[in-house]
Amino acid sequence: MLKNKKILLGISGGIAAYKTPLLVRLLVQAGAEVQVILTPSAASFVSELTLSTLSKRPALSEYTYQDSGAEVWNSHVELGIWADLFVIAPLTANSLAKMALGQSDNLLVATYLSARCPVIAAPAMDLDMYIHPSVVRNIDQLKEDGVQVLDAAEGELASGLVGKGRMPEPEDLFNHIKDFFKRDEKWASKKILINAGPTYEAIDPVRFIGNHSSGKMGLALALEAQKRGAEVYFVHGPMANPPKSIFFKQIPVISAKEMNEACQNIFPHVQVAILSAAVADYRPSKVADQKIKKADSALDIALEPTVDVLKSLGEKKKDQILVGFALETENALENGQKKLKNKNLDLIVVNSPSSSTGFGTDTNQAILLDKKGNTKDSLLVTKSELSVQILDSIENLWNV
Ligand code: CTP
Repeated sequence: MLKNKKILLGISGGIAAYKTPLLVRLLVQAGAEVQVILTPSAASFVSELTLSTLSKRPALSEYTYQDSGAEVWNSHVELGIWADLFVIAPLTANSLAKMALGQSDNLLVATYLSARCPVIAAPAMDLDMYIHPSVVRNIDQLKEDGVQVLDAAEGELASGLVGKGRMPEPEDLFNHIKDFFKRDEKWASKKILINAGPTYEAIDPVRFIGNHSSGKMGLALALEAQKRGAEVYFVHGPMANPPKSIFFKQIPVISAKEMNEACQNIFPHVQVAILSAAVADYRPSKVADQKIKKADSALDIALEPTVDVLKSLGEKKKDQILVGFALETENALENGQKKLKNKNLDLIVVNSPSSSTGFGTDTNQAILLDKKGNTKDSLLVTKSELSVQILDSIENLWNV
C-alpha cells in the first residue's frame, strides 16, 4: 500500500514528538519514502539523529545546511512538490496558529504553504489549550483550507491532567495514513464536478432574485472529495464565504445561465458530478438596462424558466455517476424517488429545511436514495459528516 509513497512528516515542538521515530519506522518498513522536517523547537523533544537514521534521509529543520563549507538551501518549494502526502504530527498550538495565518518563519510552515499534496494534521496539546476559542478557530480555519485535521486522543497528558489533547498513537496514525492511500487509489484517477451555492438572477443593474443557500454543503463535499484524492471542479454561485482551499479548482458564477454553461463544459470530462447548488428555477424574462424607478402602482416582473442543469446532465450522462439533491417540505421520500427517476440520477440526497438542516446551517439530515433501491437515513450530522456518507454511497455504486 505505501510502497514508494512520498511522505513528508512535519514534527513541531511538543512532548508527543518523542513518539514520532516509531511512526517513521512503521512507514519506512511499509515501503514509504519519508522526509522529516522539524520546527526548531521540536529538536528539544526528539533527536534529529534518530529520525535521520530511521528515515535514511537527513531530518531537516533549517532553511539552509552546510555542505563542504558552503551554505546550501533546503528548498521548501521542492519538498512541497515532491510529497504525495504531508503529515504534521504532533501539531502544536503555535505551529497551528502559524499555519492558519499563513506564516512562514520556519522550514515546516513554509513547506506547508508550498505543499500541493493533501495535508493531514494531528494537533496535540494540553486539554485547556485544545478547547481554547483561538485554537478551535485555528483548527476550523485549517479544515476550511482543506487540511484533514485529526481529533486529538483522550488520556493522561504530560501535564498530569487527564482529557483530550494527546497525539494519536503512532500505530493509529500509521493506520490512518494507510487508509488515506487506500481511498486515494480509488479516487486519485477520478475527476469530480461539484456545484454549490445560490444563483442570482438580475432584475436590473442593482437588483436580483436569489435564495438563502450558503454553499456549505457543496463546500463540505468538495473538501471531502479533495481529501480522498479526487480532482475537484467546484462551480459556485455567490457565497458569503467562498472557499479558500488551494487544493481544488474553483469556477465562480452568478446566474443560472452561467452555472449551466460552466457545468455543461466540465461534465464531459468528469466521472462523478454532484449538483448541490440551489439554482434558481425562474429568472426575469427581461433585465432592465437601468435601475427601475419606484412608482405608486404595483410592479409585475415576468419570469421565465431556467435550464434544469441536473436534468440536462442526466439526459447527456454516459457512464458517469450523477448525484442530485432534493429539498422537500412534504412527502420527502416519494418526491425524492420521483426526482431520482425523472432526472436519471444514480443517487439523490433528500433533505428538508428546518432550523438545523438546509440553508445556512452547519448540520444536515438527509435520506440517501440510490438507483439500486438502497435507502439510507442519516442522523442529524455535520455537513462534513454527511459528505463522508455521500461519497461512501458513491463508492458503493462503483463497486458493482
Ligand atoms: N437543479 C438544477 N437546475 C435547476 C434547478 C434545480 O440543477 N434549474 C438541481 C439542484 O441542484 C438539485 C436538484 O436539481 O440537485 C433538485 O432541486 P430542487 O429545488 O429540490 O428541485 P426542483 O427540480 O427544482 O423541483 P421543485 O422545486 O419543484 O421541487
